[in-house]
Amino acid sequence: MNYPERFSNLPEYAFPRLRALLDHHQPGGDIVHMTIGEPKHDFPPWVTDVIMENAAGFQGYPPNEGSPELRAAIADWVNRRYGVSMGADTNVMALNGTREGLYNAAMALCPEQKNGQQPIILCPNPFYQVYMVASISVGAQPYFVSATAATDHLPDYTSLPEEVMNRTAVAYICSPANPQGAVASRDYWAELIQLAEKYDFRIFADECYSEIYRDTAPVGALTVAQELGADPERVTLFNSLSKRSNLAGLRSGLIAGGPETIKQVKLLRSYAGAPLPAPLQAAAAKVWADEVHVQENRALYQEKYAIADEVFAGVQGYMPPEAGFFLWLPVENGEETALKLWQETGVRVLPGAYLSQGDPGQNPGEQFIRVAMVAPKTEMKRGLITLRDCIYS
Ligand SMILES: Cc1ncc(COP(=O)(O)O)c(C=O)c1O
Repeated sequence: MNYPERFSNLPEYAFPRLRALLDHHQPGGDIVHMTIGEPKHDFPPWVTDVIMENAAGFQGYPPNEGSPELRAAIADWVNRRYGVSMGADTNVMALNGTREGLYNAAMALCPEQKNGQQPIILCPNPFYQVYMVASISVGAQPYFVSATAATDHLPDYTSLPEEVMNRTAVAYICSPANPQGAVASRDYWAELIQLAEKYDFRIFADECYSEIYRDTAPVGALTVAQELGADPERVTLFNSLSKRSNLAGLRSGLIAGGPETIKQVKLLRSYAGAPLPAPLQAAAAKVWADEVHVQENRALYQEKYAIADEVFAGVQGYMPPEAGFFLWLPVENGEETALKLWQETGVRVLPGAYLSQGDPGQNPGEQFIRVAMVAPKTEMKRGLITLRDCIYS
């Protein structure tokens, strides 16, 4: 049996890799899970009722693009949050979480060639892994751009050579960034959008951590694109209820952008999409419309930022995250540190290199660990203190 050559160099996904690293060793204490970005705060209790009330909808095929109610709730949310005017029928579509959307948007929108050459898709490094596999799947070259302290933990796409820019078809960008917690400023977005206008590439803005922040809501790419009067097809936004509403398992995501972009994504998904079951669409519509639980959820994370800042005060290289729920902590070697922590304390974290690309010595993630602040507050605090005492004292 033959297998596609293009996937032959894909490393094992981060979490099986972590299991292979840790699971044949005993934990050195009570286990604290700080690896996966799966929110553990409560979701609104009424979500279950809405699903039950709409359970009859499990019988039918769900609407591919999202029910009119869900699309209206999504468009309202995008317009409210970003100060734009997206139409429910023309500018948004429901996704089955952002991950598949980030993948399928490349399928629907990345051309076979850019200026007569193989296209490039720009990816931050470290990065959310689907960007790479989407690029490979569409026959583009994923081009990794380091996002380190030297560039305020966001990729500096403006510094790339002309020959790269001429081949660039798409740029993925994650703000707030997983794993570093950095937020793209208005100026950052403006420069990127101007660059995209100059070289005619699309921006895929992955903003799924946008509602978890300290005190100021991160500015969104669509907002800045509108302010600049950019091509309405230039920026495509991705967001979801997974982090905003602690509903990673509901799988409600959104894509928002220009009408031609959305039309193209709808076309592809009418053949190959996996729409959200109708009762879940009904629940998702209500969740997008509610902000009370989002504010309560954010307040819990704000307490967690305060705990992290206190625990790591004085630790050299500690970066207080601006947003999101990860700590990106500097260490000598991320893999060795994750193993040591597990064996000595039972705290489970992810080596940074599992989220980044590059040869040893060149990989911008290898001297980091990623720590997810998702566990309940007291457990999370215990995990952070144990971690600090094990690796920084
Ligand atoms: C940066 C980033 N983008 C997208 C996703 C996918 O989230 P979902 O598919 O649940 O919306 C995640 C999930 O961890 C993420 O960290």
